[in-house]
Amino acid sequence: MTPSRVVLAYSGGLDTSVAIGWIAERTGAEVIAVAADVGQGEDLTAIRARALACGAVESHLVDARSEFADDFLAPALRANVLYQDRYPLLSALSRPLIARHLVRVAREKGAGAVAHGCTGKGNDQVRFEVAVGALAPDLAVLAPVRDSGMTRDKAIAFVEEKGLPVPVTRSSPYSIDQNLWGRAAECGVLEDPWAQPPEEVFQHTADPTTPRQPDEVLIGFADGLPVSLDGRPLPLAALIGELNVRAGAHGVGRIDLVEDRLVGIKSREVYECPAAVTLLAAHRDLEDLTLERDLARFKRSVDQRWAELVYDGLWFSPLKRALDAFLADASRNVSGEVRVRLHGGTAQVVGRRSPASLYDFSLATYDAHDTFDQGLAKGFVDLWGLPTKVWAGREARLGDPLAGAAPSASPA
Ligand code: ARG
Repeated sequence: MTPSRVVLAYSGGLDTSVAIGWIAERTGAEVIAVAADVGQGEDLTAIRARALACGAVESHLVDARSEFADDFLAPALRANVLYQDRYPLLSALSRPLIARHLVRVAREKGAGAVAHGCTGKGNDQVRFEVAVGALAPDLAVLAPVRDSGMTRDKAIAFVEEKGLPVPVTRSSPYSIDQNLWGRAAECGVLEDPWAQPPEEVFQHTADPTTPRQPDEVLIGFADGLPVSLDGRPLPLAALIGELNVRAGAHGVGRIDLVEDRLVGIKSREVYECPAAVTLLAAHRDLEDLTLERDLARFKRSVDQRWAELVYDGLWFSPLKRALDAFLADASRNVSGEVRVRLHGGTAQVVGRRSPASLYDFSLATYDAHDTFDQGLAKGFVDLWGLPTKVWAGREARLGDPLAGAAPSASPA
């Protein structure tokens, strides 16, 4: 059954602009466009108007910047989010938010389907569709670029034939996705993993090799979330926005990664995430000061799993939800201040303090104020090493060559 109304995730670019008329012609449905402002820094009023000019019956703009920061970036930061230890997941984090708004508008307008402009080779198709499936399993999903032969050439021909107001000529060789958490670039010369990214790829970070004076920023945290910059309380979205400019001016946050996509492709991606990289360094450092050892060690594995789930499109899933509960609890008392020096493309933590610190000077010091009883250490070490000592004795007795632990006997 073809739906009479379709809600389309609209970016203002070539593919989703063409998708409006394409869907309308092929299904006879009315297309309602939804564009979300997640801090991509584009003129979204122009984008809203463009959707109508391309044939949408309604065009909605959602200012989702605070929602993105508070509901998506905040838990990500608590999870020290880094896929493959390096990518802060900027695109992966915005997709479930956009899916949530597509579903909301579909319900309000009685639409039977949602649509996106993703290709079949990327992660974003998975993230949109799996999220929609979790939130509204009854809705159909249309993916014209992937499923109905909407190639780039055909899209350009469609624009020319219909006279649509879509800029196709000055199109950049790169495929870009950007928001408050950073900017992703792929395609063009970047498809050669050996080729150094040309400087023109970077829009939010200055060349880190240009000599300049270092900057230092003081970041205040409460329960695992940043709440102030240089002592000024700020809402999270504003804080990230300011820090992007501040850290970007020192070339902080450039990431060049050969990435493992969920669909099995390795792809070369270049990211710029000045605020994310700075906040992640500060947050992780404050955890080292305030988390008890076993909790900290265990949390590393939770962090990694969380990032993989979100990368893989499972934002709305039972394991992810359960891990969120763990992360919220673990983040209690990750509060305090971190000094970060921004210089030459790096964000270096140079100091940290916390009212909830577990650092005990009188235990750590080697000076006269030492309260650590070194006499207890001998017995501790003996008992700690007892199992391995017993095991090594057995190995020696049995002469088991496979164990290979004991040093070999002197040559016969
Ligand atoms: N590879 C990243 C991810 O899957 C970024 C994808 C962004 N899309 C783009 N058109 N550049 O999260």
